[in-house]
Amino acid sequence: MSGKGGLEGVVVADISSSLVDGENGRLIYAGYEIEDLAANSTFEEVCHLLWYGRLPKADELELLRSRIAHDAKLPDEIIAMMKALPKQAEPMAVLRTVVSALAHYDPDAEILGNKAVAMHKAIRLTGQITTACAAWDRIRKGHEPIAPRQDLALSANFVYMLSGEEPKKETVDAVDVYMILLAEHGMNASTFTARVVTGTGSDFHSAIVGAIGALKGPAHGGANAEAMRQFVEIGEVENVEPWFTKNIKNGERRIMGIGHRIYKALDPRAQILRDKAKAMAEASGNMKWFLIADNLAQLARADQYFIERKLYPNVDYYSAIVLYTIGLDIDMFTPLFAMSRIAGWSANVIEQMGGRLIRPDANYVGPMGLKWVPINER
Ligand code: COA
Repeated sequence: MSGKGGLEGVVVADISSSLVDGENGRLIYAGYEIEDLAANSTFEEVCHLLWYGRLPKADELELLRSRIAHDAKLPDEIIAMMKALPKQAEPMAVLRTVVSALAHYDPDAEILGNKAVAMHKAIRLTGQITTACAAWDRIRKGHEPIAPRQDLALSANFVYMLSGEEPKKETVDAVDVYMILLAEHGMNASTFTARVVTGTGSDFHSAIVGAIGALKGPAHGGANAEAMRQFVEIGEVENVEPWFTKNIKNGERRIMGIGHRIYKALDPRAQILRDKAKAMAEASGNMKWFLIADNLAQLARADQYFIERKLYPNVDYYSAIVLYTIGLDIDMFTPLFAMSRIAGWSANVIEQMGGRLIRPDANYVGPMGLKWVPINER
């Protein structure tokens, strides 16, 4: 096999929704710098940008917001199915099951190859995934799920559906910034998976189910939860240095939330989330988790091993602190990633529709020339 494998450096598609400039630490959604969008936009506005290629006018934004809110309600049968699942089921596995099952209740599920119809499915699934995440968090804790409100934007609806209480502005703002930052990211592993499934001519829900499966892994979306578990394991600010020496310096473990296939400079989303995490920690009066993360990142930045390999915090590193500070359970972090990335997956699925089958080649390294022998002679 040539190179290090992992399709590194291989261009597999033309993509118009985002550009990841790893050398310069830049991320652009359909022409707009991520810093600009994070400071000024909303998640629905970013959905419009990714799906239609331009920012919406006021009436278009309200139409999209209300359609997502309207379609976010889950069929009663899906709620009943979720209640029948084991309470200890892993939330990403539940989400995978729910999205697969939702296809059976989508009126257009088997209409294939039609981009306008696919856009309706994107709108429906964007709301439904958010509702499913909040519903599962309640169901597994023995509470009734709460239906989405028609008057709220998606991030506010998520916060509302977790508790049923009027959502706090600071919490909604934190979730919305997170949702904007995670919405799209070039040919990442889950987006590639969604494109591969779409390339076979298969249906929209199958592509998203595949993407959820890819996102679940700790080398991809699962890293936010693993990053937080590592901060909890460190436990106190004074433990950071001995923990680094014991676990990382000997090369036994990786720092979760550090390193990236494309970014060889600081991930711009990590910088925005670091600022957000710091501000939230200061506002809450509890600096511990932010300081543990930040001190560990500083140790890594000063370490020759990390410098030589250009390993910097990625989006999952500080987002873990943001999501923990708003009170989310750690195993809900990756579902939140999916809640946002459905926007980018949808844009990529629609762009891929009608494209050529994605079917790479492989280098055979197995034996040759063997002759079959009867089973009792082996
Ligand atoms: N901690 C310590 N060392 C790391 C590291 C980390 N988080 N990430 C990469 N490295 C090292 C590897 O050991 C390797 O060293 P080597 O050249 O001596 O073998 C080198 O950096 C390159 O790593 P590699 O695994 O080949 O890079 P990749 O592009 O295949 O993987 C990640 C990228 C993201 C999977 C990898 O950096 C990682 O596992 N990070 C932690 C998980 C994470 O945060 N994932 C979320 C990504 S957004």
